Amino acid sequence: VTAEKGGFDHFMLKEIHEQPKAYRDTIRGRVHDNGRQIDLKELNITPVQIQNIRNVHIVACGTAYHAGLVGAKVIEQLVRIPVASDVASEYRYSSPLITPDTLVIVVSQSGETADTLAALREAKAKGAHVLAITNVVGSSIARDADDVLVTLAGPEIAVASTKAYSSQLIAFYLLGMYLAQVRATQTEDDIAQMIMALNALPEQVESMLENSDAMKAYAEQISHHEHLFFIGRGLDYAVAQEGSLKLKEISYIHSEAYAAGELKHGTLALIEEGIPVIALVTQEAVLEKTVSNIKEVKARGADVMAISHEEHIAGLLKSVDQAFAIPKTLPLFTPALSVVPLQLLSYYASLARGNDVDKPRNLAKSVTVE
Ligand code: G6P
Repeated sequence: VTAEKGGFDHFMLKEIHEQPKAYRDTIRGRVHDNGRQIDLKELNITPVQIQNIRNVHIVACGTAYHAGLVGAKVIEQLVRIPVASDVASEYRYSSPLITPDTLVIVVSQSGETADTLAALREAKAKGAHVLAITNVVGSSIARDADDVLVTLAGPEIAVASTKAYSSQLIAFYLLGMYLAQVRATQTEDDIAQMIMALNALPEQVESMLENSDAMKAYAEQISHHEHLFFIGRGLDYAVAQEGSLKLKEISYIHSEAYAAGELKHGTLALIEEGIPVIALVTQEAVLEKTVSNIKEVKARGADVMAISHEEHIAGLLKSVDQAFAIPKTLPLFTPALSVVPLQLLSYYASLARGNDVDKPRNLAKSVTVE
């Protein structure tokens, strides 16, 4: 069994470490013209159909839904098409507003999640073009979708998804860039610049993985708490939601992810002396705003750990208790990096609590009942 785990103590840790490879494999073969163009040859959707897309729905469950939250922002920003995301069990019964010009993107690691499959079938019946982002080529979802964009993360065994989520982000980046190219909403130079940043991600993840001790120490610190918060704005909020879910799944510590600016509208009442708050502060455009929110929780006694870029750490340390630096990339791509310390945090917190990391209570890797 240790051999299967490639020398790691758990599948989850092995899979966290497989992310650089998963990124490379998912990108490979999809970048052309000397790094100036994305080509998704596997897609059946025609350039004319892409031109005609009026709206996009992203539908998934669990961690895949969280990848979809990032994907929605990526597509909106790069392609300027309205995107809505929903969890499959809600979408399926919400009589979704679908026209033939609606692109529905379903996201599923396993390709077998019953709720997601039912949502896919509902969308198809209503006339949408359905594109699946999945990690399993021969899965039910891959078979039923009109188009499949495969993530090449390799088999994921641990119940808590890590490399599948981050590879789904890569798939969304590729798809967003491709749609932007076809609709000419980004220039060739913009795309080339993005491709360069995309290609740098695997090495950047490697550098973070070599530096996991800080997260291990912080995980041991929070493992004694029963409640904590994740806060962030924009893409940081989307990643916060995934970080919070990961922590709940395997450490059983209760956490909430909050849009940093929304705390003061109610949840701030829960902030008390000593409660850990993990603040994601990677989005320059809203950095100062998030810092104000950090000050709000600090003033109520919270113990704040910030995740940001090196250049902001010294400044942030005036307002937070500790800070962790992640490498610099384009703002849109930061989720592919910032999720890594959060995965390590959950892993080490679960370990510190003596839990079964790879097989958390009550959860299954793939849920095939609705
Ligand atoms: C289960 C797993 C989650 C996963 C979700 C969706 O609940 O425990 O980790 O995110 O299903 O799975 P899928 O295979 O559709 O991505």
